[in-house]
Amino acid sequence: MKDTDLSRMSFDEFDEARDPRPDVQDFDRVVEAALSRRGFLRGVLAFGSAATAMGLGTLMGSTSAKAQAAARFAFTPVPIATDLDVHVPEGYSWQVLAKWGQPLFSGVTDFDASTGTTAEAQARAFGENTDGMEMFNIGGRQVICVNHEYANVDVNLPGRKDGLPQSADDVLLLQRTQGVSVMEVAEGADGWQVVIDSPLNRRIDHTTPMALTGPAAGHDLLKTAGDPEGRTVLGTLNNCGAGRTPWGTYLTCEENFNGYFGFASALPAEGDSDEVKKAKVDEANKARTDAMKRYGIGGVSRYRYEQFEARFDLGQSPNEPNRHGYIVEIDPARPDAMPVKHTALGRIKHENAASVVARDGRVVVYMGDDERGEFLYRWVSRDAFVPGGDTSTLLVEGTLSVARFSPDGTGEWLALTPEATGMTAAEIAIFTRMAASRLGATTMDRPEWVAVNPVAVEAYCALTNNTRRKAGATNAGGDPMEAVPDSPNPREENGYGQIVRWYPADDDHAAPGFAWNLFVMAGNPAVHKEGPMAGSANITEGNMFNSPDGMMFDRFGLLWIQTDGEDNNDGDFAGQGNNQMLVGDPVSGRIERFLTGPKGCEITGFATSSDGRTIFVGIQHPGGSWPEASGLPRSAVIAIRRDDGAVIA
Ligand code: FEO
Ligand code: CA
Ligand code: CA
Repeated sequence: MKDTDLSRMSFDEFDEARDPRPDVQDFDRVVEAALSRRGFLRGVLAFGSAATAMGLGTLMGSTSAKAQAAARFAFTPVPIATDLDVHVPEGYSWQVLAKWGQPLFSGVTDFDASTGTTAEAQARAFGENTDGMEMFNIGGRQVICVNHEYANVDVNLPGRKDGLPQSADDVLLLQRTQGVSVMEVAEGADGWQVVIDSPLNRRIDHTTPMALTGPAAGHDLLKTAGDPEGRTVLGTLNNCGAGRTPWGTYLTCEENFNGYFGFASALPAEGDSDEVKKAKVDEANKARTDAMKRYGIGGVSRYRYEQFEARFDLGQSPNEPNRHGYIVEIDPARPDAMPVKHTALGRIKHENAASVVARDGRVVVYMGDDERGEFLYRWVSRDAFVPGGDTSTLLVEGTLSVARFSPDGTGEWLALTPEATGMTAAEIAIFTRMAASRLGATTMDRPEWVAVNPVAVEAYCALTNNTRRKAGATNAGGDPMEAVPDSPNPREENGYGQIVRWYPADDDHAAPGFAWNLFVMAGNPAVHKEGPMAGSANITEGNMFNSPDGMMFDRFGLLWIQTDGEDNNDGDFAGQGNNQMLVGDPVSGRIERFLTGPKGCEITGFATSSDGRTIFVGIQHPGGSWPEASGLPRSAVIAIRRDDGAVIA
């Protein structure tokens, strides 16, 4: 990997290149997947088994069924796009609500289109790489929390060689570019605006103090020179997806936290050859623990924080990474309150946190660990949620479980207890992946967002893709990662992704078991006329996409699906265009395209205004100079309304 390539990579690509997962190929076990599309899908695909045999049109063939399905989609689907613009259906309009570097307070130096912003200004301005978001109504004020997942080094540090920091101040700028923005927004004659200087506006970044709760708080593995008690952390890292609690707080989810730590001794010096660079990394990595290897921690970090700040140097502060990778709770109504990292919900590459109240009032949180062959998790609180009551134990005391899917269409939640895993509660909280491996959890095709249907007892998880799934391959813990027909992960070298859903036993999200099937398998029926890569029957040349990622239900029970995939519109991806947002109907299986993003971006993050007449969507890492005519590209949240003012979601 050449240094010059670094700035062009997404965070996930960087992570994979730096610490490739085991990819042991047992050639004797590779079998030609000569499966017909129909035979391959068999019973696991909800619409596939019936719909492939009859054709989806036949399934939905009656006039009333067609009318019902159509009524659920109040828009004309948009075609794919390959340009540098946003497209929404006819009768809808969009505007930018907030973009990278935009001040949230008065007196902040404005953004420079060619040089970006400064550390001082960025502390009080909207961050980069918008991701998960949630809207809160606080005493009639609309307050939106927005994640800023990572930095685009060539964009956010323009002018620095390879986009890498040259000073502690550069590091501080990158740290403030990421994190979370909390901001009041309001709709006026000119559309939606940020309310500058609202008392609820707040920036949270890689330097913000936050408290730890749960079994790992105060544990020796969390103690550092800067925090000998192991109870207060600086910063939340790599804020990817999001969620909200039933009591009105925001959950921000730490995903690729591993990429911020490195060995200072492994940093390359000017003029080092590739061989010397590699030798430094190999020598430093001898100090890695098994846990560091499982989580992909080591070598040289993405942003070289370790060059300027000791707590990111694994040689000096090996426990610092144990303090990141958690679900973090932020109270948008209390701008002075310290954010809280809840260790009981596990330390993984958290994608999002989808909460629902179970039948008996206990709080359930579903969470994916986004890495090839990692797992799907569920938290169930010990105590019941009582509106207006004490909520302090609900993300602290309870049971974390991991999913095992069986080929017969059932599954179970395996409780990660000390008895079952042979690990202490603190060890389970910190080394959650290793605990889950001990129970034989199902290795998944990169679990991204989970979404819970508000009008039916079911939940969905986007399994974005897994090009390394094949016979003989394993995840970083050695768990097998072969393709299993009649499983949620049925395809080898899966570049398209799928969405699995489950129905809790007894209509109870806290029940130990569930039934499952696939809602959709993405694919390309134009390139692959048959076979598994054509996708499921509800994928056509008119609605196809790859790599489902962001996913949220609206109040009507429609599923909004956002993609973070290959947008070269070529080869296996020909005809799929730029990343996009689609709407799926859980009842009919129908999926239609609602939005296309500018080339280069991923679409991620979805929220609605209190009245449902506006939806907010995140445009992350756009190409060109979007949304400006020239200058640096700027990630942004856009607001979309219907021209007739009707409710959208
Ligand atoms: Fe940050 Fe897995 O997406
Ligand atoms: Ca994502
Ligand atoms: Ca993704």
